[in-house]
Amino acid sequence: MADTLGQVVVALSSSGTLPTPVGQPAGTDRSPSKLRKASSTSVTSRQPDEPTVPYQARPVTSAVITHNLTAALPVMEVGELGQEELEARVRQVIEDYRQKLEDRTDHHMGYPYNLDFDYGPLEGLQKFCINNLGDPFIESNYGVHSREFEIGVLQWFARLWEIEEDEFWGYVTNCGTEGNLHGILVGRETLPDGVLYSSAESHYSVFKAARMYRMEAVKVGVLGTGEIDYDHLRACLAANADKPAILNLNIGTTVRGAVDDVDRVLAILADLGFGEDRFYIHCDGALFGMMIPFVKRAPMVTFKKPIGSVSVSGHKFVGAPVPCGVVMTRLKHIQALSTDVEYLNSRDATIMGSRNGHAPIYMWYTFTRKGYEGLRKDVERCLRNAHLLRSMLERAGVVTSLNELSSTVVFERPADEDFVRRWQLACQGDIAHVVVMPNITVAKLERFVTELIAVRAKSSLAGALAISAEAIREGEEEA
Ligand SMILES: Cc1ncc(COP(=O)(O)O)c(C=O)c1O
Repeated sequence: MADTLGQVVVALSSSGTLPTPVGQPAGTDRSPSKLRKASSTSVTSRQPDEPTVPYQARPVTSAVITHNLTAALPVMEVGELGQEELEARVRQVIEDYRQKLEDRTDHHMGYPYNLDFDYGPLEGLQKFCINNLGDPFIESNYGVHSREFEIGVLQWFARLWEIEEDEFWGYVTNCGTEGNLHGILVGRETLPDGVLYSSAESHYSVFKAARMYRMEAVKVGVLGTGEIDYDHLRACLAANADKPAILNLNIGTTVRGAVDDVDRVLAILADLGFGEDRFYIHCDGALFGMMIPFVKRAPMVTFKKPIGSVSVSGHKFVGAPVPCGVVMTRLKHIQALSTDVEYLNSRDATIMGSRNGHAPIYMWYTFTRKGYEGLRKDVERCLRNAHLLRSMLERAGVVTSLNELSSTVVFERPADEDFVRRWQLACQGDIAHVVVMPNITVAKLERFVTELIAVRAKSSLAGALAISAEAIREGEEEA
């Protein structure tokens, strides 16, 4: 085995081609020209007798995916380079990469990530493999953990979401997706024959959960704002009235930041005769769940209402150098999911086994440094800047929309793909959005709008000139 790997590495360092991925037949040519050639072939046009190529080499061609070939940075070998040269090259690679990150961070507008944080005082912790494997409340035998920070963070959320300390269970997840996977799983374990309902604008992880757990799922329509269509939800629930309901409600949808009205959904359930033992509500608050508690006049996400769980992402509004999140549910629900694991000397009730122990420390640090008041000020600034961006775009003739409680400004998708990539915009169909996070300053909005208006003018002019060019050509043909 070691020999085979050694041969691959030697071959690579002399030819400069990409590493052979696991599962790829030996001798498969993965030179860049081959990859480029492959990228023009449609996945669906593959003949049944064609050998299966690894996913990495397969082009992803579809109406929605426009880029798909990630450049590789081959692992270097000492070989002929010598140790000193290798060290110098590694330093250069890391420095180049750092500069790239600076630039990409400076030009980021599209995804809901707060890139403005300073965890300098925590840098010394990086040399530790901090792992909170198992249940946060039951220490495993692995001692390099941060459970004390994790429980502190969970207690902070328990106060925010109004649940008593002896009534909740939760953990720091790897991301918002894991929170959804967990919340929906708890719903499924509590109501095993329940049908999952969620709006068509839900994050893709919700229906992924339904596929993973082989649950019956209903995609409910949306209103013009992107909120769940309450009449349609009522009709869907009524059509399955003999089965319990598991609902995923969005506390801020991914693309338009729309918030489903939990009270209205509870009223519909009561109206249709669904008692509290026949429904389970998971609130997906990936981004906006962290902001809504600090928005004046916004509805509260609270366990005082009969909801089953809430999840948020930690790297979005809070800001963290690693993806993370939190999921919280009622202690009474978690018993159905837990098993004791002797090897851990802890209990298994989480989706993942090993869990990033650095993540709770980042959250603990931010909550301690900023406090509720600091977070409230951040939210206020985001909402103010979102309104500012909308006004600037509208004044410049760009059609926009902004949901009342949201900092997600939606506008026409720019035609210029380079611009979309440069500002890392998330697009869907003919719309794009900017999610205004604490790191988006007025100065950055100015730069963004200036460039957007310039590329729009350029493509408008190109479109206009194409018409006149066509007319001239036709005129020449007639002459
Ligand atoms: C509404 C919603 N739910 C879930 C997620 C998934 O969160 P994560 O990227 O942290 O897995 C997102 C991500 O954007 C989201 O917008």
